[in-house]
Amino acid sequence: MARINENYRKLQAGYLFPEIGRRVKAFQTEHPDAQIIRLGIGDVTLPLAPAVVQALHAAADEMGTAEGFRGYGPERGAEQFLLDGILEYDFAARGVTLEPDEIFVSDGSKQDSANIQEIFGPNCSIAVTDPVYPVYVDTNVMAGRTGEADTDGRYPGILYLAATEENGFVPPPPTGPADVAYLCSPNNPTGAVASRDDLARWVGWARNHDAIIIYDAAYDAFIQDPSLPRSIYEIEGAEVCAIEMRSFSKRAGFTGMRCAYTVVPKALAGTTASGERVALNDLWMRRQSTKFNAVPYVVQRAAAAVFTPEGQKQTREQIDYYMANAALLRDGLGGAGFTCFGGEHAPYVWIRTPEGLSSWDCFDRVLGEAHVVTTPGAGFGACGEGYVRISAFNSREKVEAAVLRIRRAFAD
Ligand code: MLT
Repeated sequence: MARINENYRKLQAGYLFPEIGRRVKAFQTEHPDAQIIRLGIGDVTLPLAPAVVQALHAAADEMGTAEGFRGYGPERGAEQFLLDGILEYDFAARGVTLEPDEIFVSDGSKQDSANIQEIFGPNCSIAVTDPVYPVYVDTNVMAGRTGEADTDGRYPGILYLAATEENGFVPPPPTGPADVAYLCSPNNPTGAVASRDDLARWVGWARNHDAIIIYDAAYDAFIQDPSLPRSIYEIEGAEVCAIEMRSFSKRAGFTGMRCAYTVVPKALAGTTASGERVALNDLWMRRQSTKFNAVPYVVQRAAAAVFTPEGQKQTREQIDYYMANAALLRDGLGGAGFTCFGGEHAPYVWIRTPEGLSSWDCFDRVLGEAHVVTTPGAGFGACGEGYVRISAFNSREKVEAAVLRIRRAFAD
């Protein structure tokens, strides 16, 4: 008899975005003429940058020649040309020195942030900010690190750190220990960004408690202020307490292409039951080489094109386009009396629901009356209740139309 992993039964309803998709589909079936504008899931809408497309074509042509054909990728998964771009543009340019074998290229930060927990012990305690990207929590539930959810949907075994208006949605580290803490900046869903001081506090806490920070920087390209940290390794000492994840998804339109990377510094260690220190880089390497076979060569070539001068310019323009959308959302809805957060260094605007509506009621009303899809904050955790997230990923026309429609729906 094949017993199931009963931890899966502890999970709350379905994963958030399929649930939203289900509600939107039901609405569309009932209202076939409604022109729905999708500002829910943070999926990019602009086509790939020309430099990226050119690199894809060239790599495909190369694969069609006897000399250029490639089978499995290099043992560590990453091609040197891509590592060179990552090391130079994402780190050396910010004063951070990393070694090529500290970078693990993968097919997405969602996967990496889901899988990284495998290298930690089953009894590790987990800390997350709340609201939170659901993947961090759900994967730890699946792995059996929690009990059954309580009535707020919170799991014993996970320490929830409230991200609130009062703390600018960047909670300070816990006062006590936790073994592994997930941080995301710029934050999904609140759009808040951690300052250098915020991160320094977290690094100090992790070092004091011998904890590991899993730092998800998938939205770093949206940071507008160059003095804000893009990488946690800009903070002294982070290389002994932090793993970092970065992605090409939002910065270069790769949500369908799939390319990301995770940094596991060689100085980072965990502890065995007998007290022996073990390099996390070795464990992650072991995990990846067993369960993963690298990102396709053509995709790695396309990702490397992001680091060429044309690629940098073209992808910068895409980010600027989305950030102008974010400003329209903030100004357009803020001007109509909505209380808006985020959207300044992130493609997400976090909005307090008007009229005391619950997140899902607000979601339903905005869908029903404005035909705009948002994401209910409660789907990201108990502290997301009373908020909705609006994504800036769509065309200018649609974002402008969405602002007008939402304003109309809530006009008295
Ligand atoms: C989101 O909308 O939160 C993101 O698109 C999810 C993701 O990147 O997986």
